[in-house]
Amino acid sequence: MKTEPELAARPGALPIPPADLLKIIGVLPQDYVSVGRHLFRVLRVHTGLRPGHKVLDVGCGCGRVAWHLTEYLTRGTYDGFDVVPELVAWCRDNIAPRHPNFRFEHVDVANFHYHKRGAIQAQAFRFPYADDSFHRVFLASVFTHLLTDDFRNYSAEIGRTLKPGGIALMTFFLLNDESRRSLVRPGTRPRFWHQSGRLMITRRDDAESAVAYPEDMVRSILHENGFELQQILFGAWCGREQTVSYQDVVIVRKRGRKEHWAGAVRDTALRLTGWLRP
Ligand SMILES: C[S@@+](CC[C@H](N)C(=O)[O-])C[C@H]1O[C@@H](n2cnc3c(N)ncnc32)[C@H](O)[C@@H]1O
Repeated sequence: MKTEPELAARPGALPIPPADLLKIIGVLPQDYVSVGRHLFRVLRVHTGLRPGHKVLDVGCGCGRVAWHLTEYLTRGTYDGFDVVPELVAWCRDNIAPRHPNFRFEHVDVANFHYHKRGAIQAQAFRFPYADDSFHRVFLASVFTHLLTDDFRNYSAEIGRTLKPGGIALMTFFLLNDESRRSLVRPGTRPRFWHQSGRLMITRRDDAESAVAYPEDMVRSILHENGFELQQILFGAWCGREQTVSYQDVVIVRKRGRKEHWAGAVRDTALRLTGWLRP
């Protein structure tokens, strides 16, 4: 396995996307490689990623994590999709020709912030992959731009396309007692000023520009969709110190079919006996 410094210094490194594309995903040119490397490392260390894995990157942007995975997924495959055509075109032109096991797809799904005129609603979108296709699925700063029904559907689609026992890593701004206290402190970024149902958003005129979810809601939607929580790495966004990442990182494992049905039977039994609220 190659080490991080070897990856960064490798000859013939892939180009860095132009500034206008980086602006779309909100990244400074000097941060594209370092933040991508950090996200890759978190994925590798915290999900047990291996070079032979089949990986799905939902909302792949302009390949910030793919860039590093090209040197690592030597026997595996990478699929990434995104709603912004220019981002996907850059990945297709600059990454895929050198790495035939890397595929990028544009999906015409609407997102008010990124792709207003998309033809398909995210809450009804079916990922273009067969059931049980991937060992790992990740979403870096994507659920921070999706509202509840979209998040619910994407969770179900991640559950459908992951192999049983497969692992998903997703980042959020999670609202809990600690982060809610810090929202009122000056200097916290982003500023979640507005309540929208149970979510908090930064802009009323563009709700999908940044979205924060209650932690209990994220846990229960993921549970309903057949996932078992493995770990939450709380992030620095709300003023915490000594964190792994800026956003909160949630890592879940798809339960096997038997585990799923056993869990469903147990939940129903608990509900019937009044231990769980309906
Ligand atoms: C902050 S950027 C992060 C991009 C990439 N994951 C990264 O870490 O560099 C958010 C990305 O989510 C994509 N996106 C927004 N809505 C989406 C949706 N419904 N399905 C897939 N991607 C979506 C955007 O086009 C954008 O590329």
